[in-house]
Amino acid sequence: MDCILEACSAIRKATNDFQPEVGIILGTGLGGFVDSIDVEYRLEYKDIPNMPVSTVEGHKGCLIFGTVGGKKVVAMQGRFHYYEGYTMKQVTFPVRVMALLGIKYLFVSNAAGGINTSFCVGDLMIITDHINLLPNPLIGPNMAEFGPRFPDMHDCYSHAIRMKATAIAEREHIKLQYGVYVGTTGPTFETQAEYRYFKAIGGDAVGMSTVPEVIVARHMGVPCFGVSVVTNCGLSEEKGDHEDVQLQGKKAGERMARLFTELIREL
Ligand code: HPA
Repeated sequence: MDCILEACSAIRKATNDFQPEVGIILGTGLGGFVDSIDVEYRLEYKDIPNMPVSTVEGHKGCLIFGTVGGKKVVAMQGRFHYYEGYTMKQVTFPVRVMALLGIKYLFVSNAAGGINTSFCVGDLMIITDHINLLPNPLIGPNMAEFGPRFPDMHDCYSHAIRMKATAIAEREHIKLQYGVYVGTTGPTFETQAEYRYFKAIGGDAVGMSTVPEVIVARHMGVPCFGVSVVTNCGLSEEKGDHEDVQLQGKKAGERMARLFTELIREL
Protein backbone atom coordinates (compact mmCIF):
# COMPACT_ATOMS: atom_id res chain seq x y z
CA MET A 1 0.00 0.00 0.00
CA ASP A 2 2.81 2.42 0.87
CA CYS A 3 4.44 1.78 -2.51
CA ILE A 4 1.16 2.47 -4.32
CA LEU A 5 0.50 5.66 -2.36
CA GLU A 6 4.05 6.86 -2.94
CA ALA A 7 3.67 6.37 -6.72
CA CYS A 8 0.30 8.18 -6.67
CA SER A 9 1.57 11.19 -4.83
CA ALA A 10 4.64 11.48 -7.10
CA ILE A 11 2.32 11.34 -10.12
CA ARG A 12 -0.07 13.93 -8.69
CA LYS A 13 2.83 16.22 -8.03
CA ALA A 14 4.27 15.81 -11.54
CA THR A 15 0.89 16.27 -13.24
CA ASN A 16 -0.50 19.15 -11.22
CA ASP A 17 -3.19 16.87 -9.70
CA PHE A 18 -4.45 15.58 -13.03
CA GLN A 19 -7.57 13.44 -12.43
CA PRO A 20 -8.07 10.86 -15.17
CA GLU A 21 -11.50 9.37 -15.76
CA VAL A 22 -10.37 6.53 -18.04
CA GLY A 23 -7.30 4.31 -17.71
CA ILE A 24 -5.99 2.76 -20.91
CA ILE A 25 -3.46 -0.06 -21.27
CA LEU A 26 -1.91 -0.28 -24.71
CA GLY A 27 -0.79 -3.70 -25.89
CA THR A 28 1.98 -4.87 -28.20
CA GLY A 29 2.17 -2.68 -31.29
CA LEU A 30 -0.81 -0.59 -30.16
CA GLY A 31 1.12 2.31 -28.68
CA GLY A 32 0.11 4.40 -31.72
CA PHE A 33 -3.14 5.20 -29.94
CA VAL A 34 -1.12 7.82 -28.10
CA ASP A 35 -1.37 9.95 -31.28
CA SER A 36 -5.11 10.22 -30.55
CA ILE A 37 -4.43 11.74 -27.14
CA ASP A 38 -4.04 15.48 -26.59
CA VAL A 39 -1.06 14.94 -24.33
CA GLU A 40 -0.64 17.13 -21.26
CA TYR A 41 1.94 15.17 -19.29
CA ARG A 42 4.24 12.28 -20.12
CA LEU A 43 5.98 10.46 -17.29
CA GLU A 44 8.54 7.74 -17.85
CA TYR A 45 8.06 4.66 -15.69
CA LYS A 46 11.61 4.97 -14.45
CA ASP A 47 10.72 8.35 -12.92
CA ILE A 48 7.74 6.99 -10.97
CA PRO A 49 8.64 5.51 -7.57
CA ASN A 50 8.14 1.71 -7.29
CA MET A 51 7.00 1.37 -10.91
CA PRO A 52 8.53 -1.60 -12.73
CA VAL A 53 10.28 -0.86 -16.04
CA SER A 54 9.23 -2.60 -19.27
CA THR A 55 11.76 -4.77 -21.15
CA VAL A 56 9.94 -6.10 -24.24
CA GLU A 57 10.55 -4.70 -27.71
CA GLY A 58 7.58 -2.65 -28.92
CA HIS A 59 6.73 -1.56 -25.37
CA LYS A 60 7.67 1.92 -24.37
CA GLY A 61 7.58 2.69 -20.69
CA CYS A 62 5.47 5.83 -20.35
CA LEU A 63 2.42 6.96 -18.49
CA ILE A 64 0.62 9.53 -20.61
CA PHE A 65 -1.91 12.02 -19.29
CA GLY A 66 -4.20 13.97 -21.58
CA THR A 67 -7.64 14.12 -23.17
CA VAL A 68 -9.44 11.92 -25.67
CA GLY A 69 -12.91 12.82 -26.95
CA GLY A 70 -13.08 15.54 -24.32
CA LYS A 71 -12.37 13.16 -21.41
CA LYS A 72 -9.32 13.01 -19.20
CA VAL A 73 -7.36 9.80 -19.62
CA VAL A 74 -4.21 8.14 -18.42
CA ALA A 75 -2.62 5.69 -20.84
CA MET A 76 0.07 3.12 -20.21
CA GLN A 77 2.34 2.97 -23.22
CA GLY A 78 3.92 -0.35 -22.40
CA ARG A 79 2.73 -2.87 -19.83
CA PHE A 80 4.35 -5.53 -17.67
CA HIS A 81 4.11 -9.21 -18.40
CA TYR A 82 4.50 -12.14 -16.04
CA TYR A 83 6.83 -13.83 -18.56
CA GLU A 84 9.31 -10.98 -18.17
CA GLY A 85 9.87 -12.17 -14.63
CA TYR A 86 7.75 -9.63 -12.78
CA THR A 87 5.60 -10.82 -9.92
CA MET A 88 1.84 -10.60 -10.36
CA LYS A 89 1.86 -7.73 -7.85
CA GLN A 90 4.28 -5.82 -10.13
CA VAL A 91 2.28 -6.66 -13.25
CA THR A 92 -0.85 -5.17 -11.69
CA PHE A 93 0.80 -2.34 -9.73
CA PRO A 94 -0.08 0.35 -12.32
CA VAL A 95 -3.76 -0.65 -12.21
CA ARG A 96 -3.86 -0.08 -8.45
CA VAL A 97 -2.18 3.27 -9.03
CA MET A 98 -4.57 4.33 -11.80
CA ALA A 99 -7.56 3.30 -9.69
CA LEU A 100 -6.32 5.42 -6.78
CA LEU A 101 -5.81 8.30 -9.21
CA GLY A 102 -9.56 8.00 -9.74
CA ILE A 103 -10.20 6.20 -13.04
CA LYS A 104 -13.85 5.20 -13.51
CA TYR A 105 -13.17 2.82 -16.41
CA LEU A 106 -10.29 0.64 -17.56
CA PHE A 107 -9.73 0.02 -21.27
CA VAL A 108 -7.26 -2.73 -22.17
CA SER A 109 -5.88 -3.80 -25.50
CA ASN A 110 -3.62 -6.63 -26.51
CA ALA A 111 -2.24 -8.63 -29.36
CA ALA A 112 -3.61 -12.16 -29.34
CA GLY A 113 -3.52 -15.39 -31.28
CA GLY A 114 -6.84 -16.30 -32.87
CA ILE A 115 -8.22 -19.70 -31.92
CA ASN A 116 -11.72 -19.24 -33.32
CA THR A 117 -11.32 -20.44 -36.91
CA SER A 118 -13.68 -17.78 -38.25
CA PHE A 119 -11.21 -15.05 -37.17
CA CYS A 120 -8.79 -13.42 -39.63
CA VAL A 121 -5.44 -11.79 -38.96
CA GLY A 122 -6.07 -8.10 -38.21
CA ASP A 123 -9.56 -8.63 -36.76
CA LEU A 124 -10.54 -6.78 -33.60
CA MET A 125 -12.10 -9.01 -30.95
CA ILE A 126 -14.18 -7.48 -28.18
CA ILE A 127 -13.40 -9.53 -25.10
CA THR A 128 -16.66 -10.86 -23.67
CA ASP A 129 -15.05 -12.92 -20.90
CA HIS A 130 -11.77 -14.56 -20.00
CA ILE A 131 -10.22 -17.82 -18.83
CA ASN A 132 -7.33 -17.25 -16.47
CA LEU A 133 -4.40 -19.64 -16.82
CA LEU A 134 -1.94 -17.30 -15.09
CA PRO A 135 -1.42 -17.15 -11.32
CA ASN A 136 -4.16 -15.06 -9.77
CA PRO A 137 -2.83 -11.60 -8.84
CA LEU A 138 -5.06 -11.52 -5.74
CA ILE A 139 -3.33 -14.50 -4.11
CA GLY A 140 -2.01 -13.43 -0.72
CA PRO A 141 -3.51 -11.36 2.09
CA ASN A 142 -6.54 -9.45 0.82
CA MET A 143 -6.18 -5.69 0.72
CA ALA A 144 -9.64 -4.95 2.10
CA GLU A 145 -9.22 -1.22 1.37
CA PHE A 146 -9.37 -2.16 -2.31
CA GLY A 147 -12.01 -4.87 -2.44
CA PRO A 148 -13.43 -8.16 -1.17
CA ARG A 149 -11.56 -11.42 -0.50
CA PHE A 150 -13.67 -13.28 -3.07
CA PRO A 151 -14.47 -10.84 -5.86
CA ASP A 152 -17.38 -11.59 -8.16
CA MET A 153 -16.39 -12.01 -11.82
CA HIS A 154 -19.82 -11.64 -13.45
CA ASP A 155 -19.84 -8.86 -16.03
CA CYS A 156 -16.06 -8.79 -15.83
CA TYR A 157 -16.03 -7.02 -19.22
CA SER A 158 -18.83 -4.48 -18.88
CA HIS A 159 -21.85 -5.46 -20.94
CA ALA A 160 -22.98 -1.84 -21.09
CA ILE A 161 -19.68 -0.67 -22.61
CA ARG A 162 -19.64 -3.58 -25.06
CA MET A 163 -23.12 -2.58 -26.28
CA LYS A 164 -21.87 0.96 -26.89
CA ALA A 165 -18.82 -0.42 -28.75
CA THR A 166 -21.06 -2.47 -31.03
CA ALA A 167 -23.19 0.54 -31.89
CA ILE A 168 -20.11 2.67 -32.62
CA ALA A 169 -18.50 -0.05 -34.75
CA GLU A 170 -21.66 -0.30 -36.85
CA ARG A 171 -21.74 3.42 -37.37
CA GLU A 172 -18.01 3.62 -38.13
CA HIS A 173 -17.96 0.47 -40.31
CA ILE A 174 -15.44 -1.26 -38.09
CA LYS A 175 -15.63 -5.05 -38.28
CA LEU A 176 -15.78 -6.65 -34.84
CA GLN A 177 -15.47 -10.16 -33.53
CA TYR A 178 -16.48 -11.20 -30.02
CA GLY A 179 -14.98 -13.84 -27.83
CA VAL A 180 -13.32 -15.31 -24.80
CA TYR A 181 -9.69 -14.39 -24.13
CA VAL A 182 -7.45 -17.07 -22.65
CA GLY A 183 -4.62 -15.59 -20.58
CA THR A 184 -1.47 -17.70 -20.45
CA THR A 185 2.00 -17.13 -19.03
CA GLY A 186 3.93 -17.38 -22.30
CA PRO A 187 6.58 -16.69 -23.37
CA THR A 188 6.23 -19.59 -25.81
CA PHE A 189 3.50 -19.34 -28.39
CA GLU A 190 1.24 -22.37 -28.21
CA THR A 191 1.80 -25.77 -29.71
CA GLN A 192 -0.89 -26.91 -32.11
CA ALA A 193 -2.22 -29.21 -29.40
CA GLU A 194 -2.41 -26.29 -26.96
CA TYR A 195 -4.35 -24.12 -29.45
CA ARG A 196 -6.78 -27.04 -29.89
CA TYR A 197 -7.00 -27.40 -26.10
CA PHE A 198 -7.79 -23.68 -25.65
CA LYS A 199 -10.44 -23.94 -28.33
CA ALA A 200 -11.95 -26.98 -26.60
CA ILE A 201 -12.23 -25.19 -23.25
CA GLY A 202 -14.09 -22.26 -24.84
CA GLY A 203 -11.38 -19.82 -25.88
CA ASP A 204 -11.52 -17.65 -29.00
CA ALA A 205 -8.15 -15.91 -28.65
CA VAL A 206 -5.05 -16.42 -26.52
CA GLY A 207 -2.48 -14.00 -25.20
CA MET A 208 -0.02 -13.32 -22.41
CA SER A 209 -1.54 -10.28 -20.68
CA THR A 210 -4.76 -8.43 -19.79
CA VAL A 211 -6.30 -10.95 -17.39
CA PRO A 212 -4.21 -9.93 -14.35
CA GLU A 213 -4.92 -6.23 -14.87
CA VAL A 214 -8.64 -6.84 -15.35
CA ILE A 215 -8.86 -9.02 -12.23
CA VAL A 216 -7.26 -6.29 -10.14
CA ALA A 217 -9.49 -3.60 -11.68
CA ARG A 218 -12.58 -5.70 -10.95
CA HIS A 219 -11.36 -6.27 -7.40
CA MET A 220 -11.61 -2.50 -7.02
CA GLY A 221 -14.97 -2.34 -8.81
CA VAL A 222 -13.64 -0.57 -11.92
CA PRO A 223 -15.67 -1.47 -15.06
CA CYS A 224 -13.46 -2.93 -17.83
CA PHE A 225 -13.49 -2.98 -21.59
CA GLY A 226 -11.02 -5.11 -23.56
CA VAL A 227 -10.06 -5.50 -27.20
CA SER A 228 -7.73 -8.07 -28.74
CA VAL A 229 -6.08 -7.55 -32.08
CA VAL A 230 -5.83 -10.94 -33.78
CA THR A 231 -2.22 -10.98 -34.96
CA ASN A 232 -1.97 -14.62 -35.98
CA CYS A 233 -4.24 -17.61 -36.33
CA GLY A 234 -3.06 -20.37 -34.05
CA LEU A 235 -4.71 -23.21 -35.86
CA SER A 236 -3.29 -22.26 -39.25
CA GLU A 237 0.02 -23.69 -40.45
CA GLU A 238 1.96 -20.47 -39.94
CA LYS A 239 4.42 -19.95 -37.11
CA GLY A 240 4.05 -17.34 -34.36
CA ASP A 241 6.53 -14.49 -34.69
CA HIS A 242 6.96 -11.44 -32.44
CA GLU A 243 7.77 -9.09 -35.34
CA ASP A 244 4.63 -10.14 -37.16
CA VAL A 245 2.62 -9.62 -34.00
CA GLN A 246 3.95 -6.05 -33.76
CA LEU A 247 3.24 -5.36 -37.43
CA GLN A 248 -0.34 -6.68 -37.30
CA GLY A 249 -0.87 -4.73 -34.10
CA LYS A 250 0.17 -1.51 -35.82
CA LYS A 251 -2.09 -2.13 -38.82
CA ALA A 252 -5.17 -2.84 -36.72
CA GLY A 253 -4.22 -0.06 -34.34
CA GLU A 254 -5.85 2.66 -36.41
CA ARG A 255 -9.26 0.94 -36.20
CA MET A 256 -8.81 0.24 -32.52
CA ALA A 257 -7.88 3.87 -31.89
CA ARG A 258 -11.04 5.03 -33.64
CA LEU A 259 -13.17 2.65 -31.61
CA PHE A 260 -11.54 3.66 -28.32
CA THR A 261 -11.80 7.38 -29.11
CA GLU A 262 -15.50 7.30 -29.98
CA LEU A 263 -16.28 5.04 -27.07
CA ILE A 264 -14.50 7.29 -24.59
CA ARG A 265 -16.31 10.29 -26.01
CA GLU A 266 -19.65 8.56 -25.39
CA LEU A 267 -18.96 7.13 -21.92
N1 HPA B 1 -0.31 -16.92 -28.38
C1 HPA B 1 -0.09 -16.23 -27.26
N2 HPA B 1 0.07 -14.92 -27.26
C2 HPA B 1 0.00 -14.25 -28.42
C3 HPA B 1 -0.22 -14.92 -29.62
C4 HPA B 1 -0.39 -16.33 -29.60
O1 HPA B 1 -0.59 -16.99 -30.63
N3 HPA B 1 -0.25 -13.98 -30.61
C5 HPA B 1 -0.03 -12.79 -30.01
N4 HPA B 1 0.11 -12.95 -28.68
